Amino acid sequence: MKQNEFKKRRQLLMQQIGNGNIAIVASASSHTRNRDVEFPFRQDSDFYYLTGFNEADSLAVFIPGREQGEYILFCQEFDEKKALWEGAHAGLEGATEHYEADDSFPIDDMDEILPGMLENKGKVFYPMGRAPDLDHQLLEWITKIRKQSRNGINAPGELVSLEHLLHEMRLFKSAEELKLMRKAAEVSCQAHVRAMQQCQPGLYEYQIESEVIHQFMQQGLRYVAYPSIVAGGKNACVLHYVENKDKLKKSDLLLIDAGAECDHYAADITRTFPVSGKFSSAQKQLYQLVLDAQYAAIEQVQPGQPWNKAHDVSVKVLTTGLVKLGLLEGDIDKLIEDETYKQFYMHRIGHWLGMDVHDVGDYKINDEWRLLEPGMVLTIEPGLYIPENCETVDKKWRGIGIRIEDDVVVTKEGHEVLTHAAPKEIDEIESLMQAN
Ligand code: GLY
Ligand code: MN
Ligand code: MN
Repeated sequence: MKQNEFKKRRQLLMQQIGNGNIAIVASASSHTRNRDVEFPFRQDSDFYYLTGFNEADSLAVFIPGREQGEYILFCQEFDEKKALWEGAHAGLEGATEHYEADDSFPIDDMDEILPGMLENKGKVFYPMGRAPDLDHQLLEWITKIRKQSRNGINAPGELVSLEHLLHEMRLFKSAEELKLMRKAAEVSCQAHVRAMQQCQPGLYEYQIESEVIHQFMQQGLRYVAYPSIVAGGKNACVLHYVENKDKLKKSDLLLIDAGAECDHYAADITRTFPVSGKFSSAQKQLYQLVLDAQYAAIEQVQPGQPWNKAHDVSVKVLTTGLVKLGLLEGDIDKLIEDETYKQFYMHRIGHWLGMDVHDVGDYKINDEWRLLEPGMVLTIEPGLYIPENCETVDKKWRGIGIRIEDDVVVTKEGHEVLTHAAPKEIDEIESLMQAN
């Protein structure tokens, strides 16, 4: 991502904050795994969105209209020894030179410097309640300023959640962001194709997971956007199954929910296919039903459609199909009203997608589902999960779990499916798998 993109975002944010106010966003912290070993670092998405700065122990401050500079970055000072042991870091000079901060200060001096920046400001925008340390520190700084009121120095009067402003910005993806999401999607599709090609009865779920990750890494995307779900047979009915430890059986379906991250942007794809390369008749019927529901839901991704429309359509198609196949009995409208379908379809159709896999942004405005607008990206992921012990349905359906998930951008004309390159039609999947 070019520096100019981050700059545009900062400018837009500062316009909204307004002169006389201040915003503060902290980086993510590093987390110890044990002793000297740390978990892989993942920057806080809000912080990265505004700075492009990928270091822990940093804090960005935005003060629109400040004469000495509006964008201030607190970060670690450059340290030769740290550079030798842990690698490159920007230091104070790098923060201004490469990351275009107007001013930079050592993070260790934050306690002395930041209270001065808060003096006489009206509102303080910050991600409220997300980092207890920052919440606490901010109140301490404000208390410190209050003590100076007799010197004519005023403490800020309002603490405002920054999330609302910032997350509304993040909800609408720019052309630059969509490029990264397309790349994440493209590589993730290749990984799903590879999984289909490599799948054989007798392999273990984790071996297929390794094929997926192999493809991500070979294409330069080192991190997964979320832990991969590789679930054979009845494991697919456990929505967040991530143990990925069982042996794949010839008669089972395999559900893979896996996506790579590209420069902090996620793909989120699910495909379900037969371990043997050929769907059984029962699997085929349920699979086609989920696919029909998915197509119908994707059709609803259009500017001006309420967010929940795609979900409602998926419920209608699935419930109708479940009655036709004999898994549910009764009047379709009543089954929907009573939410009877929830025993087999218990999650919603999808979520916003972006830097976070379950991305930020409100789904309702003034208690009404919001209308889709160009630039929004969401997943469409209907599923059916028939519990193994479900005695109300014929044995042939039991233990089948199916989800089909694509990433969809709302465009001016309608929508674009970012993840179209991962096959999902029954004959496409079968011919790909049987070509091996
Ligand atoms: N992979 C998480 C989800 O589909 O929501
Ligand atoms: Mn998913
Ligand atoms: Mn998803």
